[in-house]
Amino acid sequence: MAINIKDVLKTLGIKEVNLGVSTGQKWHETNGTITSSSSPVDGKEIAKVKNATIDDYEMVVKKAQEAFKEWRLVPAPERGEIVRQIGLELRKYKDELGALVSYEMGKIFQEGLGEVQEMIDICDFAVGQSRLINGVSLQSERKEHRLFEQYQPLGIVGIVTSFNFPVAVWAWNSALAAIAGDCVIWKPSSKTPLTALATQKIINKVLADNNVPEGVFNLVVAKSSVMGDNFLADKRIPLLSVTGSTAVGQRVGGIVGKRLGKTILELGGNNAVIITPHADIKMAIASTVFGTVGTAGQRCTSTRRIIIHESVYNQVRDSMVNAYKSVATKIGSPLDENFLVGPLIDIHSVNNFRNSVEEVQKEGGKILFGGEVLEGKGFESGNYVMPCIAEAENHYKIVQEETFAPIVYLIKYSGSIENAIEINNNVPQGLSSCVFTLNMREAEKFVSAVGSDCGIANVNVGTSGAEIGGAFGGEKDTGGGRESGSDSWKIYMRRQTSTFNHSEELPLAQGIKFDF
Ligand code: UN1
Repeated sequence: MAINIKDVLKTLGIKEVNLGVSTGQKWHETNGTITSSSSPVDGKEIAKVKNATIDDYEMVVKKAQEAFKEWRLVPAPERGEIVRQIGLELRKYKDELGALVSYEMGKIFQEGLGEVQEMIDICDFAVGQSRLINGVSLQSERKEHRLFEQYQPLGIVGIVTSFNFPVAVWAWNSALAAIAGDCVIWKPSSKTPLTALATQKIINKVLADNNVPEGVFNLVVAKSSVMGDNFLADKRIPLLSVTGSTAVGQRVGGIVGKRLGKTILELGGNNAVIITPHADIKMAIASTVFGTVGTAGQRCTSTRRIIIHESVYNQVRDSMVNAYKSVATKIGSPLDENFLVGPLIDIHSVNNFRNSVEEVQKEGGKILFGGEVLEGKGFESGNYVMPCIAEAENHYKIVQEETFAPIVYLIKYSGSIENAIEINNNVPQGLSSCVFTLNMREAEKFVSAVGSDCGIANVNVGTSGAEIGGAFGGEKDTGGGRESGSDSWKIYMRRQTSTFNHSEELPLAQGIKFDF
């Protein structure tokens, strides 16, 4: 599709100035500050948003509390029906929402479409799950007793999303929360509020058509001074699902942990690809280039390190550099389908990239390709960089950190796969990892108890681009949260164990006698 942003904004209902607070069907007038969202693509302002005030936040929480009383009583398959219709609406607006994701965030249009597809996929998943919210029946040690567990709606779920997946992560959380009987309060990234507003507008119609109570699906665009630590500390919100850096997650974990609330933390990664002597090198390179430069290195699953066996090191290094030479001709506006790499989100990210390029050299690394900030026609926003390949060692301070930009470190290993696994695991983060090998023993070792310590461990599949069907998340500094598929729905619910006595006796467990 030829993308005309004016038309896209019109179709999605984004005006010059937009209200930033919605409780479902309704949008609320506010006298909060007005901020604007500008595109990293060309630096131009896209539209303005009226931010929420503290009073608006209070109003939304109260609405959500009221709505929960009703929503939890709606049968789960009926809640699923609402999510099914949301999935249908998203299908209708896939091109436009994908284009706005691309323009406001900077990922290429293909990836913008992929992001909306993830939203559609999780809606489908949640619809099925709405009929599968099951418990377990267990054997009681007491005669004529029944023991069982079931899952109940939890309450309000706070969702804080990051700029890099500005809408999909909301969908992962809210589709499951909704079928679980919860109400959601979404605080989108201040860098990408318009995609959030557009998403809320897309679901407005479904909520109206089905008379969903106000307060089930809430969106609050707010500054951290209005919705920051107070949001995290708010006891009325039993679960907070937060995507962000490890530093942000530590703060969230501290505040929510102090009040013994629940969290889903999706934090930084430092994801490695291992290429062994038994790899199909052609496949490994093709996959890894998507992992390193896709989304301009701004996925939490982006490939940050390539751990290469010394026997194939030169071949992999040269092939990577050659592949980057071709990528170098495909950097530009993400809305132009000829390009594969768009801009970084802002100047702050560009500076981080620049800093990592400098730091790795200071520590003894060598730049093999790229590392420059691009200038000239098409790059006026100052956010475009030439993806960088550097030779480095795993223990370098900069290699141990996540740089949210397209810089990848090549690291050599010798000997067996165990040595590569040790390097893979020897970083603070534990999100995604993969091995390229056709050797069954190496592959099995990698996914065994002594293998990768990450939440995601793939074989002949790169570190990024996970499907929604599996649980998504990682260990260590990545925060330990799991969202999206598999049994992630359980965290959105309150688990309850019940013992039923249908006898005429009152036996105590463990055979305890207590006669009086
Ligand atoms: C993220 O970068 O925050 O696996 C999420 C992937 C995507 C999701 C990434 N499905 O790369």
